[in-house]
Amino acid sequence: MVQQLNEPTSPSTPGKLKPDKSHHIHHRFRIHSSHSRLTLFSSLFLAFILLLFFLTFTPPPPPTTAPRRVLGDSWGGSQWERLVSKSARRSSASGHTVLVTGAAGFVGTHVSLALKRRGDGVLGLDNFNRYYDPNLKRARQKLLERAGVFVVDGDINDAALLKKLFDVVPFTHVMHLAAQAGVRYAMQNPGSYVHSNVAGFVNLLEACKSANPQPAIVWASSSSVYGLNSKVPFSEKDRTDQPASLYAATKKAGEEIAHSYNHIYGLSITALRFFTVYGPWGRPDMAYFFFTKDILKGKTITVFESPDGGTVSRDFTYIDDIVKGCLGALDTAKKSTGSGGKKKGSAQFRVFNLGNTSPVPVSDLVAILERLLKVTAKKKVLPMPRNGDVKFTHANISLAHKDLGYRPTIDLETGLRKFVKWYLEFYSSGSNYKKVAW
Ligand SMILES: NC(=O)c1ccc[n+]([C@@H]2O[C@H](COP(=O)([O-])OP(=O)(O)OC[C@H]3O[C@@H](n4cnc5c(N)ncnc54)[C@H](O)[C@@H]3O)[C@@H](O)[C@H]2O)c1
Repeated sequence: MVQQLNEPTSPSTPGKLKPDKSHHIHHRFRIHSSHSRLTLFSSLFLAFILLLFFLTFTPPPPPTTAPRRVLGDSWGGSQWERLVSKSARRSSASGHTVLVTGAAGFVGTHVSLALKRRGDGVLGLDNFNRYYDPNLKRARQKLLERAGVFVVDGDINDAALLKKLFDVVPFTHVMHLAAQAGVRYAMQNPGSYVHSNVAGFVNLLEACKSANPQPAIVWASSSSVYGLNSKVPFSEKDRTDQPASLYAATKKAGEEIAHSYNHIYGLSITALRFFTVYGPWGRPDMAYFFFTKDILKGKTITVFESPDGGTVSRDFTYIDDIVKGCLGALDTAKKSTGSGGKKKGSAQFRVFNLGNTSPVPVSDLVAILERLLKVTAKKKVLPMPRNGDVKFTHANISLAHKDLGYRPTIDLETGLRKFVKWYLEFYSSGSNYKKVAW
């Protein structure tokens, strides 16, 4: 290498060398050897420095956990952990410490506020997906922030995030409301139902089963699991094996999955079958919401009747009644019996209907809205398409009444009045009008 570097750049042609060149060569060799010595010393010196470096340099320890992080997430760091802990700190000695999934959703916002108000520690989790206007979810998040509830921006499928949350906070309860809701959207995006309602739920149960202590879980199933049943009112004992939509099928799957986790790991699990929940801060994809919007805009609304010409009716349940049912379920939930993924004994497993137990035809819903909005709706009546909707829902709520003290008190007209008041205020206030898509 050294020699190569010192070789003449122009090739020496044999026979053209003069005799006196030997002196020259000799001289060159002298220069060469002094260069070589110098290079040798520098190499030795460099090797010595490198040796010193390797002897004294200790590589940083590998991270204790190598979390799998979902692309684009924004969690982690000491500041973030402080927010998480602060939000989950309870202000009442007897309060729970609750992780609310789907906290920026309609029901999640109301439940989180009610829990915080009475002194429970509440941490929210929501992925703010675009199923409906995310600005409405962000507006709910602001409301929660003002009440001291921090909503982590993340997905229930993110195992590393869930593990981190359970490492930072010893949750006593999980109120699981995150889901892909809505029956019709399943025909457009079936994968989103599997992602959130099946895979996401399993991921959450995995985190709960491994947590120490294991939390008690209360989660939202749906009246849709009664599917095509014709016996009314729907009772928890009725069959739930003929779903009319993929949404219903994923909720039914959730109930079965929950049972297996209860059985194997001793997780205390309560499923609440909600019946058409409505109210302020509601969901824009639900009929009472988009009817209000369209009636105010003078747009024609489509009212479905059942294929045999009969009315389509729903057991509309006001949000405050649902919140009371959720709190009742959390307060009566027994502790999970396992720890660190191992079952220590059988655990509580419950299913409750949370409805209003007085179904109202959708045509009556429209008539109430017309009165409240003081506008006559332009209506088109069509037979109900086969898109996942069922003809009627009607809850038997005697079990929830007996075990949770559940007693709905708000009739549809009273509840819709509150909704319309919120709607007009929210969408007419300048900032929201601009931000939230109509
Ligand atoms: N509102 C009703 O009438 C009704 C009826 C029956 C059952 N339910 C169930 O009640 C629960 C709450 O419903 P809602 O009306 O408040 O719906 P919502 O859509 O307003 O709330 C659900 C929230 O979960 C979030 N979310 C969805 N997938 C997620 C994921 N993978 N990770 C994290 N967050 C995710 C959404 O962003 C949303 O904010 C849902 O489980 C729903 O299926 C609601």
